[in-house]
Amino acid sequence: MLLTPLAPLFCAALALASPLRPRTGGPVIAKPTANTAIQPNESFDFLYYSMSDYGRSAYNTSIWLFSTEVGSLQPDAKTDTLTTGHFFGRFSTGNYPGNPYPAHPVPTQLTMPDFSKNQGGFGSGKAAHDAPMYLAVFEEWADGSGTLGNKIAYVSTPIIYNGTKAN
Ligand SMILES: *[C@@H]1O[C@H](CO)[C@@H](O)[C@H](O)[C@H]1NC(C)=O
Ligand SMILES: *[C@@H]1O[C@H](CO)[C@@H](O)[C@H](O)[C@H]1NC(C)=O
Ligand SMILES: *[C@@H]1O[C@H](CO)[C@@H](O)[C@H](O)[C@H]1NC(C)=O
Repeated sequence: MLLTPLAPLFCAALALASPLRPRTGGPVIAKPTANTAIQPNESFDFLYYSMSDYGRSAYNTSIWLFSTEVGSLQPDAKTDTLTTGHFFGRFSTGNYPGNPYPAHPVPTQLTMPDFSKNQGGFGSGKAAHDAPMYLAVFEEWADGSGTLGNKIAYVSTPIIYNGTKAN
């Protein structure tokens, strides 16, 4: 069969690309899975495995959507822009005793904005189709090692904004 020589490679790639089991400590975005097509206004499942664990306290978790991979971000002096995207919010992992901010748990669903809409003021939107974007999570956490402020975990996963659904 034609695909057979490629099958081991494919399986290896899958194993690398699907860290679906919570490790001892995150950060893992289990949902949406990589390259999921998400439509404007669509509510989609979100599942994040926190850094929290025995000996580790996780504090707040901030969720963003960027049109560029964060690792490659450089402010553009001409446009005064680091990247474009959306801030979904800062939420509480809520795993530690005395959590002062338990009322905003990390959501299990997020809603994709419609970026084609004028936001009011001078901000105008832009239509796009099959646009790669990156859902990014920053999690503040700490352990007994003593750090200058919290440790900040980071993970991102690519999604396809206004992408063609597979079925
Ligand atoms: C998204 O929702 C807004 C507000 O209801 C609406 O104006 C817009 O047309 C919707 N966009 C799409 C792509 O359905
Ligand atoms: C978590 O975020 C909220 C809202 O931004 C803030 O009020 C709160 O102090 C934060 N909690 C911690 C432990 O950082
Ligand atoms: C989504 O893609 C379709 C097909 O190209 C396009 O007509 C529409 O304007 C796009 N919607 C948004 C919100 O960008």
